Amino acid sequence: MLIDILTIFPAMFSGFLDESLVQRAKEKNLAQIRIFNLRDYSGDKHKTVDDAPFGGGGGMVLMLEPLHRALESLAKQEEEKSSTSIILTTPQGERFSQKKAFELSLKGHLIIICGHYKGVDERLKMLHPLEEISIGDYVLTGGEIPSLVIIDAVVRLIPGVLGDFESAQTDSFFEDILGPPQYTRPAEFDGLKVPDMLLSGDHEKIKKWRRKEALKRTLQNRPDLLNWNELAEEEKKWMEENEEKEKSE
Ligand code: ADE
Repeated sequence: MLIDILTIFPAMFSGFLDESLVQRAKEKNLAQIRIFNLRDYSGDKHKTVDDAPFGGGGGMVLMLEPLHRALESLAKQEEEKSSTSIILTTPQGERFSQKKAFELSLKGHLIIICGHYKGVDERLKMLHPLEEISIGDYVLTGGEIPSLVIIDAVVRLIPGVLGDFESAQTDSFFEDILGPPQYTRPAEFDGLKVPDMLLSGDHEKIKKWRRKEALKRTLQNRPDLLNWNELAEEEKKWMEENEEKEKSE
């Protein structure tokens, strides 16, 4: 996968992209990441890329021309347009999710525009098919961190990036619910014991226990994720019992 980042702060990317899993993906030639300075596409000697909004109001808006010029130049370098997604990071966008990360991991080319200030000139959307993505309901100072969040979530889903042991299939959210609690050695610390079930060696029972704990955690922390209609009868019963128990405590 080729990932191009358009930013006014290129220096923010060194470090993160040269470490960890993203670096591993680059070494294995599964991902190539290029950083472009939007100011290099400005039309003037001051390298201006933003201006005041028409109609007044505070803040600045990213200008149409530098963005258009940059996108034209990047799109030209990639032949297979159908597998390219152009993403704009903005708090006004569709909320980023694991589902979206999966969808993007199947693309051949991602171009990520790091939004800034009051946003971009709206006409950019008429010239290029933009997908606006927000990483959550809060406002950051710019789109650089959101773009790294998106890259991290997407790159780890590219087949071959994760080893079998880290497989994305055991992630929280892989099944649309949160993951179960996990423990590792020592089996006891300062009187705190790992649940006996996990030491029992009975894999079927452990699987059931994990599912139950994952459902419990989802009910507690993210009830909005639970689709009651898709739960088995036995699972609905556990959940109801659990709710009763919580109420009486
Ligand atoms: N830019 C500023 N805040 C943002 C957010 N929450 N998501 C994406 N881009 C942003």
